[in-house]
Amino acid sequence: MILITADKTARFAEIDCALTAENILIAAESLGLGSIIMTSTEFLFKSEKGEQLKKELGIPEGYEHVCTIALGYEDENRRQNQEKRRNQLRKIISQFTRCRNHKLIPSS
Ligand SMILES: Cc1cc2nc3c(=O)[nH]c(=O)nc-3n(C[C@H](O)[C@H](O)[C@H](O)COP(=O)(O)O)c2cc1C
Repeated sequence: MILITADKTARFAEIDCALTAENILIAAESLGLGSIIMTSTEFLFKSEKGEQLKKELGIPEGYEHVCTIALGYEDENRRQNQEKRRNQLRKIISQFTRCRNHKLIPSS
């Protein structure tokens, strides 16, 4: 897990962090790792428990959660399933494009 924090009073802090996150995601992909960016982890860091966690992790005073990145090895079937889903989606989109062009209603 990678936690990205910032002094949010700094100008462009969130933009800087977003770019950092994107670079981490690209680097992970190039290393063959799976990744997911999460901002909902904000709820944890806004809580009392989160304040404690920030101390345990050594996050400097004044720095706040921006996002969290989870890295790991992907499920072997994921890419295969993803490709299958994409192909299904392409098929649906192409059917609708044809229908729109010919004013037809798609057959089920
Ligand atoms: C800024 C940002 C914040 C996100 N926050 C969350 C989050 O808190 N929880 C979550 O499950 N997915 C979150 N996502 C979505 C995932 O990172 C990911 O894009 C999504 O699961 C689709 O992944 P896939 O296309 O590789 O299947 C966020 C995406 C972005 C761009």
